[in-house]
Amino acid sequence: MFIVIEGIDGTGKSTQANLLGEWFEAAGRDVVLSREPTDGPWGRKLRESAGGRLDPETELEYFLNDRRQHVEELIHPSLAAGKVVILDRYYFSTMAYQGARGFDPAEIRRRNEAFAPVPDHLFILDLDVDAALARIGTRGDTANQFEQRESLEACRRIFLGLAGEPFAHIIPCHGNVESVHRAIVRHL
Ligand code: TYD
Repeated sequence: MFIVIEGIDGTGKSTQANLLGEWFEAAGRDVVLSREPTDGPWGRKLRESAGGRLDPETELEYFLNDRRQHVEELIHPSLAAGKVVILDRYYFSTMAYQGARGFDPAEIRRRNEAFAPVPDHLFILDLDVDAALARIGTRGDTANQFEQRESLEACRRIFLGLAGEPFAHIIPCHGNVESVHRAIVRHL
């Protein structure tokens, strides 16, 4: 079982990934929890560059390199061993964030699905950008934050554009942690 949790910053992805991992473990399953960018060499480069950003092409290349390694070294072997794999971000984040930087989301998707397995379930945690910014502690009214707001609006639109996919579930997440967890589990 391959499960991916996505959403813009501030939607609570890592909290829900952890709760879902505990839920599967309570049901007796072996669980592998992971995230992207990873803690591998490409992921570390991406995190280090988060302030002074890389040019868009280099950034996209690094996310793809990071994911290739993640798929090869962790995702494929864990699924082959019958484990439940739960990811906090995956190639849908590349569609959304690098899409917001000007790349075509459909083309990003094609490039990823050439090597990255499609999940059984994709949970998109959805929150309006105002609420998300409040949760991450900014109001979005300085010039820099204005840019961040515009970019998150674009990411959210791209995520919501996946609503028609048979494996995707949009989970409104303005409620409390427990109610969001129950909404996810209901789909499983
Ligand atoms: P995030 O999950 O916010 O990491 P953390 O909070 O642990 O530092 O991810 C870091 C940023 O990377 C986030 O703003 C989204 C971005 N990102 C992309 O732009 N493209 C991608 O393909 C992925 C996986 C993440």
